[in-house]
Amino acid sequence: MNELIDQMKVILASTFAMGLKTQYFHWNVEGPHFNDYHKLFGGIYEDLFGAVDTIAEQIRALDSYAPGSLSRFVQLSKVDDQINIPTSRLMISELLSDNTIMLSELTKAFHLAENADKQGLADFIAGRIDVHSKHGWFLRATSKVQ
Ligand SMILES: [Fe+2]
Repeated sequence: MNELIDQMKVILASTFAMGLKTQYFHWNVEGPHFNDYHKLFGGIYEDLFGAVDTIAEQIRALDSYAPGSLSRFVQLSKVDDQINIPTSRLMISELLSDNTIMLSELTKAFHLAENADKQGLADFIAGRIDVHSKHGWFLRATSKVQ
């Protein structure tokens, strides 16, 4: 159970970190595809920030406290912070690789939830895996050079 709680804290911090980075890119992206990228990043960060509250409440339901400070999130997150402004192409490839990390961390959490007989939580995590698969599709399709 402790392993599951620790992994849910990783999911919380990583989701927040990816949400912040995606919103940062939404604000600062430039180039001929500005409008497409701005909207794509907008849809992704809204989903990520929308999920943060439920992830934190799932941690409370497991009878642990939810972390909620920037310094703690930096310690816990598997998604690295970005302080520079990459080109639009690099923004897409960085988010694609962050999204792959999220999928792997969520899959870990899913198996831990199943092993702990937490079916409701496993179901919620499976939903997050589906949404991140869709983010991956959108990012991949956008990055494809014709
Ligand atoms: Fe906006």
